[in-house]
Amino acid sequence: MTIIDEQPVRFDAFEPAQRANPYPSFGRVREATAACPLLLGDVPVTVFTRYEECAQILTSPHWGHGYQAGISPFRDQGALIPGSFVRMDPPDHTRFRGLVTKAFSPRTVASLFALVDRVVTDLLDAALVRERIDVIADLAVPLALRMIGGRVLGVPEQDWPLLRQWELAIARGTDPDELLPADAIVERGTAARAAAGYFHGLVAQRRAEPAEDLLSDLLMVEEQGDRLTEPELVGICMLLLVAGMETSINLIGNGVLALLQHPEQLALLRSRPELMPAALDEMLRYDLPTQFTIRVALTDTTVAGRRFRRGDGVVVVMAAAGRDGAVYPEPDRFDITRFHGPHPARRHLGFSLGVHYCIGAPLARLEAAIAIGSLLERAPGLALAGSELTYLPSLIHRGLVALPVTAG
Ligand code: HEM
Repeated sequence: MTIIDEQPVRFDAFEPAQRANPYPSFGRVREATAACPLLLGDVPVTVFTRYEECAQILTSPHWGHGYQAGISPFRDQGALIPGSFVRMDPPDHTRFRGLVTKAFSPRTVASLFALVDRVVTDLLDAALVRERIDVIADLAVPLALRMIGGRVLGVPEQDWPLLRQWELAIARGTDPDELLPADAIVERGTAARAAAGYFHGLVAQRRAEPAEDLLSDLLMVEEQGDRLTEPELVGICMLLLVAGMETSINLIGNGVLALLQHPEQLALLRSRPELMPAALDEMLRYDLPTQFTIRVALTDTTVAGRRFRRGDGVVVVMAAAGRDGAVYPEPDRFDITRFHGPHPARRHLGFSLGVHYCIGAPLARLEAAIAIGSLLERAPGLALAGSELTYLPSLIHRGLVALPVTAG
């Protein structure tokens, strides 16, 4: 990435040190300028790292994606897949989101408590016979596969390894195309075609024989005569697979790591389990699974005194906004009480804001609360095993390849 204007800081997202800890350089950008212009490949964009501007862009109707209007400067990332509404603008976005939200009601999510609890218990029963376990492979991945693969999408267990393979390749490919190596784009395409073919078959099967999964609920959803078509349903399956799996895995991995690196916070959470909801918010502020997103000006508009023309692209770095000292005192301190009590800190951007606010947030919170809570309870001597941490080769998704721990 090349900074093209006032050159306030060097920012190489691919340096190993940056991958291990991107927050110091986000901080340098944030302190140097409210809006940092740079080249993303050959696309000029402006990067926002301060909370106020990030929140303004995410919630403003002047900003969206502009793919349907044909004004996006970003290369198409499958943004025009029917039904995949994360890159759509209203009114199409409103239609899909409305239909999907119906099948994702708080009641449905609350009813999943017993299932998540049982799955986590089984996974920990199997893993904790060993002294050393991997929080990612033994807990976070199989939980996400059972919940997103099994309960949400209704994919039978024998196909979960395929699902994981596709999800990793597609998730890796959610970085802007301008930043992706050619082989990652090819692998994403191969995985997306295979997954789409698979979901076509699954949708047909569920139409013939509904099951107890969200996909079957979606087939029933209808609003004022409006129903989802087969290609739209396939697009929604693809979106839920990518939006729901990698993110939930990484909240558990990044969250457990933050606790292990801050033993006093770990001890506090063990002694006061009622702090879990606030602890999850702090995890989503401190080390985000989804580091940034992109937006395009849908009209001429102004942010931080800069004028943007319709069709200009920006990068909104929620991960940097979470460490903005103007909003969060001592922003680099991991403090699980920050969002607790009568005066909680200002809402973090970990699930975004505005019309694209994460639909799966309640499910992600349920999974992480039970997984992390049960792990702390059942592994009293929980400690990091080894000091080497390897991160996924992705910029948008921040997550560990493995998190080996001793359970004690
Ligand atoms: C910790 C876990 C999760 C995180 C951090 C997360 C984060 C996000 C973020 C940041 C966005 C907005 C992207 C943008 O504004 O451009 C988003 C949207 C979305 N998420 Fe999540 N997500 C998580 C879990 C889930 C789960 C479990 C599901 C589904 C089962 C899900 C489904 C979606 C969908 C469908 C959207 C698109 C919403 C829209 O465009 O209207 N997410 N998520």
